[in-house]
Amino acid sequence: MTTLGTPLSPHATKVMLLGSGELGKEVLIALQRLGVETIAVDRYDNAPGQQVAHHARTITMSDPAQLKALIEAERPHLVVPEIEAIATPMLEELEAAGTVRVIPTARAARLTMDREGIRVLAAETLGLPTSPYKFCNSLEELQAAIDAGIGYPCIVKPVMSSSGKGQSKIDGPDDVKKAWDYAMAGGRVSHGRVIVEGFIDFDYEITQLTVRSVGTDGQITTSFCDPIGHVQVSGDYVESWQPHPMHPAALEKSRQIAKAVTDNLGGQGLFGVELFVKGQEVWFSEVSPRPHDTGLVTLCTQHQSEFELHARAILGLPVDTSLRNPGASAVIYGGVEAQGIVFDGVEEALRVPGTDLRLFGKPESFVKRRMGVALARAENVDTARANAKLAASKVRPRVA
Ligand SMILES: Nc1ncnc2c1ncn2[C@@H]1O[C@H](COP(=O)(O)OP(=O)(O)O)[C@@H](O)[C@H]1O
Ligand SMILES: [Mg+2]
Repeated sequence: MTTLGTPLSPHATKVMLLGSGELGKEVLIALQRLGVETIAVDRYDNAPGQQVAHHARTITMSDPAQLKALIEAERPHLVVPEIEAIATPMLEELEAAGTVRVIPTARAARLTMDREGIRVLAAETLGLPTSPYKFCNSLEELQAAIDAGIGYPCIVKPVMSSSGKGQSKIDGPDDVKKAWDYAMAGGRVSHGRVIVEGFIDFDYEITQLTVRSVGTDGQITTSFCDPIGHVQVSGDYVESWQPHPMHPAALEKSRQIAKAVTDNLGGQGLFGVELFVKGQEVWFSEVSPRPHDTGLVTLCTQHQSEFELHARAILGLPVDTSLRNPGASAVIYGGVEAQGIVFDGVEEALRVPGTDLRLFGKPESFVKRRMGVALARAENVDTARANAKLAASKVRPRVA
C-alpha cells in the first residue's frame, strides 16, 4: 500500500529527478499532481523541469562526489534518472547502502548508461535478436570489424551518446575514417570507443512502451502501450505516432522481447523499448528505463501519458495503458542559436484541428535543439501526422 504525503511538510513524499529536460518536466508535473515534493536536478540553471519543481539544483551529475553530497543532503525517497550521463556506480553504492531507491534500479541505470552494457545483456545474456555488432577502440579495429563480417552498409555510434550525436552510416570503405572522426567528435564522454552495427533494412521501427507496476496482488505486473511508430533523421526523432499498425506475430514478438529485457532490468517504472521490424521479423535495438522522446505523442493519445504512467508506477500506484485516440507528434527545432528566443505563429499552429503544443522553455536555443513539440489527435494516424507536422511548421522560433 502506498501512502503519499504533503509537499513541503515533514511527511512529504520526495522524488528527485536526475535530469530535468522536456521529458523530466512532464514527469515532474505528473508527480506534482499527486502531491509529491519534487527536486529537479540538471547541469544548467533553469532547465525545463526546474521551472516546475519545488526545488531546483544544479550539479555535474557525472561527478560521484557531487551526486552523493546532493542525495545525502536532500534525502529523497526516490531518485529518478532522466538522462544517461550520471555517475551510476555511485547510485548503486547509495542504493546498496539503503540510502535511496533508484528507478527502476541502480543496476538498470548503469547497464543502460552506455550502448555496451545493454547490448551485451540483450544479445549475449538474453539471446535476443539484434543487429550484428562489434565494439572498437580505434580506426584500425573499426576497419577490421567491418572486414571480418559486419560489412557494408553499417552504422557507427559513440558508445556514450544519444539523439544521434556522433552517429553515421558507412556505405563503403571511403566512409570509414569520416565516421570514426565524427564519432570521436560527437561522443558525450570522449573515451574513444564506438559500436559498429550491421545496417538493418527494416520496414519500420517502433517504441514499445512497457510498464512494470504493482498489480492488485501486490506483485509486479507488466503492461504494454500500443506501439508507437516514428521517423528518425540522422538518429534523432522528428515525428512519432500511435498506434502503429503491426502484424500480430510481429507485435507478439516485440512484446516478448520487451518483457525479457524489462524483466531482467527489474524495478518499477516505464521503459521505452526500441525495436526494428521487417515483415514478421523483430530486432531489439535499445531501451530507455524511463519515458522515451517518441512517447511524447502519448500526451494526446492515451488516458495516461507515458509520464503519468511512470509517475504512478514508481509510486506503486495502478496504471492504465489504454489508448484513447490515434495521434501524432512533430518536433519543433530551435533553428537559431540564441538565448531567450521567442516563438511566432503559435496561434496559427493551435488553429490546426485537434492540436496542442509543448514549448519546453529551454533558456538557450541551438539550430538542432528540440525546443518544443506539436501534438495532434485525430480519427486516424494519417490525419494526425499531417496535422502535427502542419502545426509544428507554423511555429517559428526566432531571436528576440
Ligand atoms: N543497426 C541499425 N540499422 C538501421 N538503422 C539503425 C541502426 N542503428 C540505429 N539506426 C537508426 O538510428 C536511430 C538512432 O539509433 P539509436 O541506436 O537508437 O541511437 P540513440 O541512442 O541516439 O537514439 C534508430 O532509431 C534507427 O532509426
Ligand atoms: Mg534510440
